[in-house]
Amino acid sequence: MASEYPYQIEAPPRERLPRHVAIIMDGNGRWAQERGQQRVEGHLQGASTVREIVEEASELGLGYLTLYAFSSENWKRPAAELEFLMALLQQYLVEERPTIMNNNIRFRVIGRRDGLSPEVLQEIDNLSQASEKNTGLTLILAINYGSRGEIVDAMQRIACQVRAGELSPEQITESTIAHALYTNGIPDPDLLIRTANEMRVSNFLLWQISYAEFWVTPIHWPEFTRDHFRQALWDYTKRDRRFGGLKN
Ligand code: IPE
Ligand code: IPE
Ligand code: MG
Repeated sequence: MASEYPYQIEAPPRERLPRHVAIIMDGNGRWAQERGQQRVEGHLQGASTVREIVEEASELGLGYLTLYAFSSENWKRPAAELEFLMALLQQYLVEERPTIMNNNIRFRVIGRRDGLSPEVLQEIDNLSQASEKNTGLTLILAINYGSRGEIVDAMQRIACQVRAGELSPEQITESTIAHALYTNGIPDPDLLIRTANEMRVSNFLLWQISYAEFWVTPIHWPEFTRDHFRQALWDYTKRDRRFGGLKN
């Protein structure tokens, strides 16, 4: 293993990396509760993991990284936890700006704006605009995101185009739908990582993960490291992706 790295696992070569990795960052609450702490302590520690993994993805030369930060279903949580999560998100958007700019990272958000505070929306817009011309890693945060809601929004957009006579029903293709989704312009994820051992998708990128490779770990997000990430990337290089065809 390479000794120049402070890590156990060597970095996979750039040309074998997936183009797009999506992560369902789960297990913050359980991580805290197992330590006799409040759930929010897990979110705080989880934010440090986000910093580590974003830097790692950028250093490795990954093209796209999508992180599921807050789902449209997460509004069901207690008010105190929601308040903490939104404050943490706002703080992240402000504090990460130098790291994002210094690492040439392009920042983007997917999800519905309704429900988010004007302050959070302002920080999202600031960071998206400031980093728009960056050419390194594209970091996509899924905030107030739900895949079914995304598909509904896309269908409404397409229906309006049909009503306006700009499009006929026969002209609707997979590409029309892909372009109407929030992820327009972003290649589909090749690898989907989920921490904390849950074997479900939880309304994340349903359309886009049609052929993504799954990688699930029992590790909770606050203790997910660069090494775990590298392990997932190495495992991905060994997958045989057939897309419905036959083995090469
Ligand atoms: C993931 O951790 C973070 C968010 C969903 C915001 P959880 O808060 O879901 O942690 P668990 O799953 O309850 O342990
Ligand atoms: C998925 O985790 C959402 C995020 C990671 C933001 P949840 O903890 O909300 O998922 P469920 O409720 O266990 O399916
Ligand atoms: Mg969870």
